[in-house]
Amino acid sequence: MNLFRPLMEVLFLLLISFSAGEAHTIRALVGDDVILSVDTKTSSDISKAVMEWSRTNLNPDIVHRGENGLTIYEHQNPAYRGRTMLSAEDLDRGIISLKLFHVRLADEGNYTCLFKSTENMYSVHLLVGAASSPVITLEDYTSRGLVLGCRAKGWYPQPKLSWWNADGLPLPAVTMTTTQDPDRPYNISSTVEVEWRSLSRPFTCRVHQALFNQTRETEWHHPENLFEHLDRSYQIAYALMTSAVLFLVGALLIVYRIGRRKPQKRKDWMECHLEDF
Ligand SMILES: *[C@@H]1O[C@H](CO)[C@@H](O)[C@H](O)[C@H]1NC(C)=O
Ligand SMILES: *[C@@H]1O[C@H](CO)[C@@H](O)[C@H](O)[C@H]1NC(C)=O
Ligand SMILES: *[C@@H]1O[C@H](CO)[C@@H](O)[C@H](O)[C@H]1NC(C)=O
Repeated sequence: MNLFRPLMEVLFLLLISFSAGEAHTIRALVGDDVILSVDTKTSSDISKAVMEWSRTNLNPDIVHRGENGLTIYEHQNPAYRGRTMLSAEDLDRGIISLKLFHVRLADEGNYTCLFKSTENMYSVHLLVGAASSPVITLEDYTSRGLVLGCRAKGWYPQPKLSWWNADGLPLPAVTMTTTQDPDRPYNISSTVEVEWRSLSRPFTCRVHQALFNQTRETEWHHPENLFEHLDRSYQIAYALMTSAVLFLVGALLIVYRIGRRKPQKRKDWMECHLEDF
């Protein structure tokens, strides 16, 4: 019916096969196992062939070398020792699949696979991300409410942090700090002020990283024993405030009693005088 659609599909397939020649990108999170895979298009058993995976900007640059169905450890970079394996099943079908166990941030980079039989080189770009759950702490108090702090450690790439109330509305952050370690991971922390009267419902701190589509969030509920969570200065202030209130109530009671006693005395005095007559 529509001639346009098959045409688009052909174009799409062309685009895919063009990009297959270039480096393709694989994403993994820290701790994951990942497979770097290239198709030699030989469609035959290549398990006895010589193949070498290496990474640019690595010294020594060899990640995995396979020869005659064996792994050659001689020049392998120690960072990859015991973490690599070629899939025997895939080699039977002419595909070189390198399984990399327990991915680290330092594994990010451009990998090249050299297939010796054809001298063909294939590239795979590995992107590594990291995420962790944020932690919310009670930081301080003001006349208007509490100051909550949220902190998330070891994210990569750089994440964004946001605060939300129970109605799903964003809260403006008072402070926002991002630091980065030399070996890549980011720490992010932020504070927010929540009003005393809004404490009955929870608040959420959300950390999000768009490239890896990672979201981690933590809810904060007003604790039963809130004042035990506040620091000593607040406890003292609270104690002083309580004693001031008690003092005021006491003073008022005394004033009230004195005020009530006076007319009574006058009545007694008047009664005395009445009796005299
Ligand atoms: C890997 O190669 C891509 C281009 O294919 C480049 O943009 C990127 O910076 C390279 N990354 C590293 C870590 O060398
Ligand atoms: C990030 O947090 C970790 C864990 O607390 C700490 O060891 C590291 O020094 C922090 N890095 C930066 C740049 O603040
Ligand atoms: C991101 O992940 C969420 C679930 O965690 C999913 O619903 C959403 O479609 C994903 N977005 C993208 C752009 O992949």
